[in-house]
Amino acid sequence: MIDAKKSEQSDITLHYGMVGGGEGSFIGDVHRKAAAFDGKCRLVAGCFSRTYSKTLATGEKLDISKERLYENYQQMAQMESEREDGIDFVSIVAQNYIHYDVAKAFLQAGIHVVCEKPLCFEIEQAKELKQLAEDNNLLFMVTYSYSGYPMVEEARHIVQSGQIGEIRTIMGEYPQDWLTNLEEETDNQQAQWRTDPKIAGISNCLGDIGSHIENTVHYITGLNIKRVCAKLECIPPKRPLDTNAQVLVEFENGASGMYWSSQIAVGHENGLRVRIYGTKGSIEWSQETPNALKVCAIGEPVQIYSRSQGYIGHKAQQLTRLPAGHPEAYYEAFANIYVKFAQVLVKTLHNQELSHEDLKFTDVTDGLNGVLFIHKCVESSKKGSIWVNVE
Ligand SMILES: NC(=O)c1ccc[n+]([C@@H]2O[C@H](COP(=O)([O-])OP(=O)(O)OC[C@H]3O[C@@H](n4cnc5c(N)ncnc54)[C@H](O)[C@@H]3O)[C@@H](O)[C@H]2O)c1
Repeated sequence: MIDAKKSEQSDITLHYGMVGGGEGSFIGDVHRKAAAFDGKCRLVAGCFSRTYSKTLATGEKLDISKERLYENYQQMAQMESEREDGIDFVSIVAQNYIHYDVAKAFLQAGIHVVCEKPLCFEIEQAKELKQLAEDNNLLFMVTYSYSGYPMVEEARHIVQSGQIGEIRTIMGEYPQDWLTNLEEETDNQQAQWRTDPKIAGISNCLGDIGSHIENTVHYITGLNIKRVCAKLECIPPKRPLDTNAQVLVEFENGASGMYWSSQIAVGHENGLRVRIYGTKGSIEWSQETPNALKVCAIGEPVQIYSRSQGYIGHKAQQLTRLPAGHPEAYYEAFANIYVKFAQVLVKTLHNQELSHEDLKFTDVTDGLNGVLFIHKCVESSKKGSIWVNVE
């Protein structure tokens, strides 16, 4: 098993390729550092940009052999599937508009997939990708990165082992302020594409960060959403896509939820916070203080659990590397989702049984749930914020 703490003892190296992540991009570099964190995943191929000269420039910096730098993702999928030493998996870190086409090409070439969220534009596309992965026995991780934090894993353990009782209500929020002004009118490429429906899809704010609330809550609780009532706002109104979204949620067990995501909330940077209230207690986790987890049992003093302490559960312990008090955060969480994926992929490649000790990674079903959530919220908002079933 690949374990974050014991990884230096393992001699298995997975080889992967990347689509997207060229110069000036954001998340591709985070993926590369995260995948390399424990020395278990080595980048050997890439199509980092639509422009070949940019792919060559990035590939040279990353020391990738020129014969494995490709002009387009179709060529990369075909050539890598034909090589004896072809990649074990591909990481898709390009913008939303191309996820479906790239993922489909690699699945059809028989290559395991890691893909950024949101998985794709359409619900039918997401279902097709899920079917393709299942039919071809291929792993498909969708990189909902907050599932990689040890204290999210601990929250999952606490909630799913029943310590806070039956869940009654959930508050999730993800406020940012970076689109308060018309940032897309500057040379900020990340702002430009997120506010462009052709590249981002039918939603900006809800798709970009509201989907993280949806997945983090689902990861911790295991609850499925039954219906949503949403109001998406384009602020300022000349923007074609939402920058502020409020969603009322009803879960299958009857619990209620309220999700707020915003990119115009002045004073907030990346304020993902999840609060879950049950019949016996509650938990609260904030991504800007990720090493702590607030835990409350009814009638008892509030407790603050600290990452890496002996009282933390086994699965959360597996995801920590440093002693308590040395903060771990974004890079480590991203590394952890690669650890989770890699340990399952290694077992799959060696035809080994998966055990209940294997960490769950967020997969193509989570990706499909994310696409469903976005579509149903947009539908609700367009119809005047009515309740819409999520199915
Ligand atoms: N999981 C997370 O927490 C998280 C965080 C940030 C971004 N994301 C997601 O990651 C994706 C990328 O976001 P970003 O902010 O890094 O975007 P970005 O604009 O910074 O980078 C996108 C890169 O993809 C490349 N690209 C575009 N089309 C391509 C193609 N056809 N072939 C090869 N390369 C191509 C671009 O040249 C660019 O290098 C988005 O889907 C976004 O939603 C996820």
